[in-house]
Amino acid sequence: MNIRCAKPEDLMNMQHCNLLCLPENYQMKYYFYHGLTWPQVSYVAEDDKGNIVGYVLAKMEEPEPGEESTHGHITSLAVKRSYRRLGLAQKLMNQASKAMVECFNAQYVSLHVRKSNRAALNLYTNSLGFKILEIEPKYYADGEDAYSMRRDLSELVNNSDRPPAERNELNDVGGDDRIITNRQKGPVVLPHHGDGHAGHDGHCC
Ligand SMILES: CC(C)(COP(=O)(O)OP(=O)(O)OC[C@H]1O[C@@H](n2cnc3c(N)ncnc32)[C@H](O)[C@@H]1OP(=O)(O)O)[C@@H](O)C(=O)NCCC(=O)NCCS
Repeated sequence: MNIRCAKPEDLMNMQHCNLLCLPENYQMKYYFYHGLTWPQVSYVAEDDKGNIVGYVLAKMEEPEPGEESTHGHITSLAVKRSYRRLGLAQKLMNQASKAMVECFNAQYVSLHVRKSNRAALNLYTNSLGFKILEIEPKYYADGEDAYSMRRDLSELVNNSDRPPAERNELNDVGGDDRIITNRQKGPVVLPHHGDGHAGHDGHCC
């Protein structure tokens, strides 16, 4: 299994994976908007034949009032059914978060999750240290409420200042897994997000 930064040519397969796994889907232009604007922060998991079996689609957001820097947002995350419980989602999320810190100096990462999505809630709270910020009633098109969640990335900020040998093992993927990153530091380009998503404003996961 290989985890690497998503490339433009992966975006169609990421959309396919999304269609298989989640009721929230996006038009292709929304994938391109993410992949071309913030190429550093979306990741894919591929099998030995190069098939995409999981992805995290992420973006950067403008600072909220009173905040000094940008923060990251997870737009969508999915792992194909037969590749679940292998730690792939955890690794994809950690890689995306690390890239948000290293490339954009993000202080935290946010997301939304359905109240009924037990697997994702366990992943976010138990494995990744997200906290529930608030409930957004009827956030989803079918009327389900969302938890709005955040993960403080300051631990990763401090971590990335230290020499690699002293850092926590955020890159630790175990076994023979490989992680390839795309560490180009780029200017923060923050156009307003488009409307490529069915149901609400594009903050889905
Ligand atoms: C949620 C999802 C992305 C998790 O992917 P995954 O690769 O299986 O997750 P991981 O293997 O990294 O799991 C890490 C931890 O998350 C929790 N977790 C994951 N799946 C779980 C499940 N079905 N039930 C309970 N806890 C679960 C566990 O704590 C797990 O650690 P453990 O395996 O040591 O117990 C996957 O189930 C999926 O694609 N679901 C459909 C799409 C979706 O819901 N996306 C999230 C939208 S917000």
